[in-house]
This record gives sequence, structure tokens and C-alpha cells, in this order.
Amino acid sequence: MKMQNFTMHLRLACVLLFSAPLVAFATSTPMNFLQCLSLHSENATSIFNLVYTPINSSYSSVLDITIQNLRFLTPFAPKPLLIVTPLRVSHIQAAIICSRRYGLQIRIRSGGHDYEGLSYLSEVPFIMVDMVNLRSITVDAEDETAWVQSGATLGELYYRIAEKSKALGFPAGVCPTIGVGGHFSGGGYGTMMRKYGLAADNVIDAQLVDVQGQLLDRESMGEDLFWAIRGGGGGSFGVVVSWKVKLVPVPPTVTVFTLVRTLEQHATKLLIQWQLLGNKLPDDLFIRVILQSLNSGPNGTRTMQASFNTLYLGGVDALLDVTRSSFPELNLTREDCTEMSWIESVLYFAGFSGEPLEILLNKSSNTKVFFKHKSDYVREPIPESGLEGMWERFFEEDEGVPLMIWNHYGGKMGEISESALPFPHRAGVLYKIQHLTSWTDAEGGNEAAPKHVSWIRSFYSYMAQYVSKSPREAYINYRDLDIGTNNVIGNTDYKQASVWGKKYFKNNFDRLVHVKTTVDPGNFFRHEQSIPPFSF
Ligand SMILES: *[C@@H]1O[C@H](CO)[C@@H](O)[C@H](O)[C@H]1NC(C)=O
Ligand SMILES: *[C@@H]1O[C@H](CO)[C@@H](O)[C@H](O)[C@H]1NC(C)=O
Ligand SMILES: *[C@@H]1O[C@H](CO)[C@@H](O)[C@H](O)[C@H]1NC(C)=O
Ligand SMILES: *[C@@H]1O[C@H](CO)[C@@H](O)[C@H](O)[C@H]1NC(C)=O
Ligand SMILES: *[C@@H]1O[C@H](CO)[C@@H](O)[C@H](O)[C@H]1NC(C)=O
Repeated sequence: MKMQNFTMHLRLACVLLFSAPLVAFATSTPMNFLQCLSLHSENATSIFNLVYTPINSSYSSVLDITIQNLRFLTPFAPKPLLIVTPLRVSHIQAAIICSRRYGLQIRIRSGGHDYEGLSYLSEVPFIMVDMVNLRSITVDAEDETAWVQSGATLGELYYRIAEKSKALGFPAGVCPTIGVGGHFSGGGYGTMMRKYGLAADNVIDAQLVDVQGQLLDRESMGEDLFWAIRGGGGGSFGVVVSWKVKLVPVPPTVTVFTLVRTLEQHATKLLIQWQLLGNKLPDDLFIRVILQSLNSGPNGTRTMQASFNTLYLGGVDALLDVTRSSFPELNLTREDCTEMSWIESVLYFAGFSGEPLEILLNKSSNTKVFFKHKSDYVREPIPESGLEGMWERFFEEDEGVPLMIWNHYGGKMGEISESALPFPHRAGVLYKIQHLTSWTDAEGGNEAAPKHVSWIRSFYSYMAQYVSKSPREAYINYRDLDIGTNNVIGNTDYKQASVWGKKYFKNNFDRLVHVKTTVDPGNFFRHEQSIPPFSF
């Protein structure tokens, strides 16, 4: 049965395909590697308890637990020779030193949300460093800062902040089971981005283990590398162990609403209006739109349904004043709105209602689906004819399978310069589109992948005329191997990598390559879309 209720779809949007069949590697136990790990650990007994090879009965559960994309949760997906779950920095150092010695590639996983599975899949022999045990969070409410380890989830971070202070929050993503490490590495955004920018904009220090196995902080790594790890994408520069973040003030009361409008209820007109608003709305207001095609039109006919999913950092009276003056077409009423605390709004955006806050401490989501997603940035409003063309294409796909999430930029996002961090999508962006297609076993599982992936690729081609051009911008945390890849075996030249690199980073790509050349000239930290050094 297709689940049509709104919160379900919100959660599906939180979990978010590889088209080519991947070859499984022989999983012989790399004994030499294990010996090396024990030599480089203070306590050999303790590191063996943190290492899983395929002969360990819990290998599969450790590997599978945080894989979000069911497309990669198959026996045919290539598996790591070995999984290390470090408890201490010395375990990460040993994993890096020994991987280099034995010529193994390394993949680093924090939450497992990454769309193309690059943190736990590789076509060459590899080990996985799973940050799952490195999840401590220390909140200093007086200083308004926190240290958070890469394996912690966003839900845990929000929970620990709220535990210490109801007046503080953090501007990161809406899906609570995303790992901090990957999220911050690619920028990371959420409902407070228009007020406070990205998660990465609020990172003020970090601890990283580099290719030599050295532990560095902001001061010892220098400003170039510190710049690169805040948005340059995970898995290129080292293993970030922990991040120091600047917390942000949140008011005692926020207001949320989700207004649902179908085409028959003038959704298209509202979207034309919404597109123009991004740079004009106050920073306290975040209205994202979730678009799907459902049989919810008159007499069960197919229609588009637009859900205006909103957070306002203030009470309902002030919100109604704002919408009446800046977006009157919405016809928002007091009854549509709910006042709550900021931490409750975190649950609301995660698709929960009525669950205890402790649900934020759940480490993995139980709504895993098969999916392929893509992204676009819109700099000119899409005309009505363009929107009509989008709806027609949605109607050609199965009900509820494709989805779009549009979210406004403007506010603080437009005030930060394009080169301040690697993340370049700043002033001039009206909104970002996340294109999603997701389905379940009941809808065909992996067998159905070719059909849905081909639909989303064709939709993406149609969208080219309406979105940013030269480069066609994309968001690195919505990784998409369709836009270009490196060679995982052998070398990747600058030109090949810049095809995808300029889309994610625009001109910041060159500086990222420069930093990479300085800190990892041998290209040890690599994957299909890692930053290559110049010589490669
Ligand atoms: C080594 O680790 C094991 C398992 O964690 C522990 O029982 C033992 O006391 C540790 N030995 C030393 C010398 O720290
Ligand atoms: C995996 O199996 C090996 C060999 O039996 C054992 O030494 C090790 O402790 C196991 N690892 C874990 C994490 O249980
Ligand atoms: C819905 O179906 C009923 C009964 O067949 C019909 O009278 C009505 O006109 C239909 N409404 C629309 C909007 O098509
Ligand atoms: C808003 O309400 C007015 C008056 O009730 C109505 O005419 C208009 O169609 C509504 N707009 C939308 C987009 O629903
Ligand atoms: C949270 O975790 C518990 C225990 O593992 C599980 O039973 C529950 O289904 C989880 N809830 C969600 C929403 O993931």
C-alpha cells in the first residue's frame, strides 16, 4: 500500500541508487592489516574488539544498520574487507597508517545517509572507518558553543543542546539520523538557514586526523584546510573527529504550519508567488514546499499537492502579520498554525507528532527506502508554462514516487560571500530544488530501480532550461554520480574532476584542489567525487 499521509512522506524525504551492478569482492581476512592495527594501538586487545571482518557474526548488522538507501543494502553491493569502529583518536590513526601500508582505500562513515553510498561502498578493496562510537557531545551553554563528534547524529545534537538550554539551538538539517560528520563536511542546512546560514557557517574549530596520522586542530591545520573541511565534502582531506560549533539563540516560542494546496486549490499560482518571495521574507521565516503527485484531486483524480512546510521563529500573531503583508495569497489562518518550543519544531520537521523528545536519540531510521535524488538551484523564477510541464511529467510516474522539495534562500544565505566557504550557492539563488524518487519493496524494490532512475534523469533534463547554468549548480550533500566521477582506480585529472567539481563548488573548486595538493598529494583519501590533487 502506498503511504500517502504527509508525515510519512516527510520521513521518506529524510532517508533518502547505483545503476550499475557492483561486483562483490572476495572477503579474505587481511591478517597483516590486523597485525598492523595491533602494533599501532596502545592496547591490542581493545582494538580487536572494535574490528569486524566478514567472519564476525555481527559484521552485517554493523554494516547495514545505518545504510539508508536500500538500493545498496543487497548481497551484491561490494563490502568492506573490514570495519573499524574507533573509540579513540589512536584507533583512527592506526587505521590510516595501516591502510596506507597495505594499499587499501578507506571509506569514512558517520551517519550513512549519503545518497550514493560512497561512505560504505567501493569498487576497490577497502576498509570502512565507522564513526558510530565517536558520538560524544559537550554543550557549554554559557559560552554558547558545543563540541560534537562526527559519529553523533543531528537528533542527538539538538537533544543535548535543548537539555542544557531552551534558549539555544543549532542551524543544521531536518533529518535527525544524519551523522554530523558528513552533514557539516558538505555545508548542511535546515530550517534556520535564512537566519543563521549553514551548519558549516557556524563551525569554529575542528579536530582532524590527516594522512600522516597527525591530530590537528584549527590552529595547527591552518585556515586553508579549515576552510576546505567546512563544505568541501567528506572523505577528501582526512578524518574529522569532532567539530566545535557556535550555538545560536532561539526564541521560547516558535510557530509551525503545513498548508496543503492542490492544483484545484490554486497551487500553481501560489508557487509562482512563492518563487518571488525568497529574498523578501524576513529571516525568521522559512517556508519550504514539498511537491508530490497524488490521487487527491476531485473524485480521486491525480493532482499535484504542494505542502508549504513552515517554521517561524516567533509567535503566531507576529507570523500572521508577516504572511498577511508579504504572502497574503496563502490565506493563512490562526487555525493552521501551532506554537511550540524550538526543540518540538525539530520533531515536527522530522515528521513526528506526539513522540517523546528521546526519539531524537534513535541512531538509525526505520523508514529506509530505495532512492535516487538530484539537486538544482533556481536563479530566475520558473514561468507558469514550465511548472505545467513539470506537473505533466509527474503525472507520467507512479503516484507518490517522485517528490520535489523547494527551499528558499535569501536572508543570511545571501549575505555570506561565495568564497567564504567551499559552499558557493549564496546571493542570487532564489531557491534550491531537491529532486527525489523513492520507493519500497512493495513497489518493486531494486527491480524497479531502472524505471524510476530513468524517470528522474529525464525530469532533470527537462529542468535544465529553468535552472542555473554554466555551471548547473548542485549541492554536494545530495551527491549525484550522474554529474561526473573520478577514476577510483588510477588517476583523475583536474579537467575530469572539474566537471562535477564546478557544479558543487563553482570557482572554490580550484582552491579545494590547491588545499588537497598541499595536505594529501598522494591522493590517499579518495572516492568517486573526492577532491583530487593537481598531479593526479
Ligand atoms: C586493554 O583493553 C581491554 C579491553 O577493553 C581491557 O580489558 C584492558 O584492561 C586494557 N589494557 C590496558 C593495559 O589498558
Ligand atoms: C571478530 O572475530 C575475531 C576472531 O574471532 C575476534 O577476535 C574479535 O574480537 C571479533 N570482533 C568483534 C568486534 O567481536
Ligand atoms: C465526482 O463524481 C460525481 C459522481 O460521479 C459527479 O457527480 C461529480 O460531478 C464529480 N465531480 C467532479 C469534480 O468531477
Ligand atoms: C484566498 O481566499 C480568497 C478569499 O476567500 C479566495 O478568493 C482565494 O482564491 C484564496 N486564494 C487561494 C490561493 O486559495
Ligand atoms: C527508535 O528506536 C527504537 C528502539 O530501537 C525502535 O523500536 C523504534 O522503532 C525507533 N523509532 C523510530 C521512529 O525510528
